[in-house]
Amino acid sequence: MISKSTIDQVYDTVRLEEVIGDFVQLKKSGSSFKGLSPFSDERSPSFMVSPVKQIWKDFSTGKGGNVVAFLMEHEHFTYPEAIKYLANKYGIEVEETEQSNEQKEAQSLKESLYLVSEYASKYFQETMHNTNPGKAIALSYFKERGFTLETIKKFDLGYCLDDWSAFTDTALKKGYKLEFLEGTGITIVKGEKQFDRFKGRVMFPIQSMSGRVLGFGGRILTNDKKAAKYLNSPESDIYHKSKVLYGIFHAKQAIAKEDNCFIVEGYTDVIQFHQTGITNTVSSSGTALTSDQIRLISRLTKNITVLFDGDAAGLRASLRGIDIILEQGMNVKICAFPEGEDPDSFAKANTESELREYLESHSQDFIQFKASVLFEDSKNDPIKKAETVRDIINSIALIPDQIKKEIYIKECARIMDVSEGVLFSTLAQITNKVQKDADKKSSVPQNQPFEVVKNKPVPRKIDVQYVLEQKIISMLLLYGNQIQDFEDLILKENEDTGNLELEPVIQQAKVFEKIFLDLQEDEMAFTNNIFKDLYYAIIEALNQNPDFKLEQLINAVPPELAMEMSSILMDDERYSLSDWVRKEIIPKTKNDGVAQLVSETILTLRCFLIDKQVTEIKEKTLQNPGEVNREILEEVKDYSGLKMLLSRKLNRPI
Ligand code: CTP
Ligand code: MN
Repeated sequence: MISKSTIDQVYDTVRLEEVIGDFVQLKKSGSSFKGLSPFSDERSPSFMVSPVKQIWKDFSTGKGGNVVAFLMEHEHFTYPEAIKYLANKYGIEVEETEQSNEQKEAQSLKESLYLVSEYASKYFQETMHNTNPGKAIALSYFKERGFTLETIKKFDLGYCLDDWSAFTDTALKKGYKLEFLEGTGITIVKGEKQFDRFKGRVMFPIQSMSGRVLGFGGRILTNDKKAAKYLNSPESDIYHKSKVLYGIFHAKQAIAKEDNCFIVEGYTDVIQFHQTGITNTVSSSGTALTSDQIRLISRLTKNITVLFDGDAAGLRASLRGIDIILEQGMNVKICAFPEGEDPDSFAKANTESELREYLESHSQDFIQFKASVLFEDSKNDPIKKAETVRDIINSIALIPDQIKKEIYIKECARIMDVSEGVLFSTLAQITNKVQKDADKKSSVPQNQPFEVVKNKPVPRKIDVQYVLEQKIISMLLLYGNQIQDFEDLILKENEDTGNLELEPVIQQAKVFEKIFLDLQEDEMAFTNNIFKDLYYAIIEALNQNPDFKLEQLINAVPPELAMEMSSILMDDERYSLSDWVRKEIIPKTKNDGVAQLVSETILTLRCFLIDKQVTEIKEKTLQNPGEVNREILEEVKDYSGLKMLLSRKLNRPI
């Protein structure tokens, strides 16, 4: 784990606007910076960075947060990766804290495997660029394939000498432990002997989303029919074939930006596409796509285009594999290349604009494509046609979105020349079967198969308590530490009349103390859990540190709280008083002081809670009329009296 002091130092040092400035062109706008959202394609800037608050907000997508949230969102870093990135940018030394022995072991095993892989990748590159066999055999091979030196370096391509154990020997001499060399699979241990798994192959390092080397693909250079053309690292603690996509590190930004991901089959397809200029391209390394891989992409986009080599047989065989993408609710297109071409050869032979043109004009919606291909195959064979219908409907049944399902059914009816009715009833059959199977497994009620509108939008009532709680949090965040003169109301019983009265007294206090004491006095608790957590986090921070700064808290709370905090802070305009007047939550004249605002908000919350209490008491009384007693009536009377006083204080009718 990274030590707390390193994290604090990072937060103390970094400037959000500098970090974001590396990715987004920012322009000064008042006290903030503005830019085009890096998360959507927009023309007028709605991405705001506040150097004062050290938070950002993207109004086009609703995302926002602190510097780490930006890196996690934009670079898809994990939390520690983001901290390390920042430490590196600002030259801060990362200090790791003590871990339990087990944690240390697991961590250090993985860490050691990463180190070995990183070293191996460097070694293979060195070998290719700086040794005679490397240059003569490997480098020239890549160049012959049409890769530029820049591309070769971008993808860290390399070469493993045609020698039994050149890599292993060198690594051991460098102090890397055999255990870890074997753990990555780069070294094969047989009794006393060790061998290099990738002997004589050109090397394609496989990187994680954040750029760490997880494993390798190695391509043979000879025409040895007995040896596999490509050899991949075996599964290890850091390499899980089904969870990685080749090229994702270099493609992630473009995928998010273009809002589409091209999936090709092989390493060289990816590289050639990137070189040609289509950088939103990844590969599943020759195997069928897995749901983990789709999930990796779904963090970046909901649109996938699968590219197929130009051989018809392969294409038909692969159609089934696409279902897994539909199941994840993604939109799938497919695009086939001309006979005899694969994405690599096609990209190599064409310019970027020709390639884009081709992709654009030949990409087809998957379901439509499947329907037309299968229809061609079966149009003169009624039995086969029935099978085909089931096959298509099986795919459509997987789509989570009901409306999309319907559209597809209509589309397929047209393409395959069958009635919509037949297709709908086939879908109902299939869905019912799936439903029954699912019901057998769980007793949770499922949605009806043809319920078109799934989640009826519930008309949103203004939740007064929610708004008030949010307002209290924003006051704490914005003014928590300010000292203000509060006109406090002391509740007194008039000695003559016996009525309750409020007597104004001016008291000086910090805003947060005032809020805390008032809420505590009335035993008012937050009903919204996020606000409740935030409330206690803020009060505690302010209590402990009189010089509390917002950044410190936003960096210390869990992401969902940080998100809520930054929206409150960036949206403070939106919750400005005018809105409150409009919503008739608080009557308010402009330019009232913070103290007034705080007092009134708390009073309003009190009134609201009193109303709630009274309603509850009334309901209880209605349910058990026998129990109407003096006590309850007294209670209601007290509450009503209090409410009247409070309302008078708020200058508004009850
Ligand atoms: N593949 C593999 N093992 C094999 C063959 C293929 O892992 N024995 C994977 C590789 O990721 C390869 C992809 O499947 O990139 C596609 O295979 P193929 O079409 O045979 O290779 P190409 O990418 O066309 O390779 P090349 O152009 O280098 O021949
Ligand atoms: Mn090829």
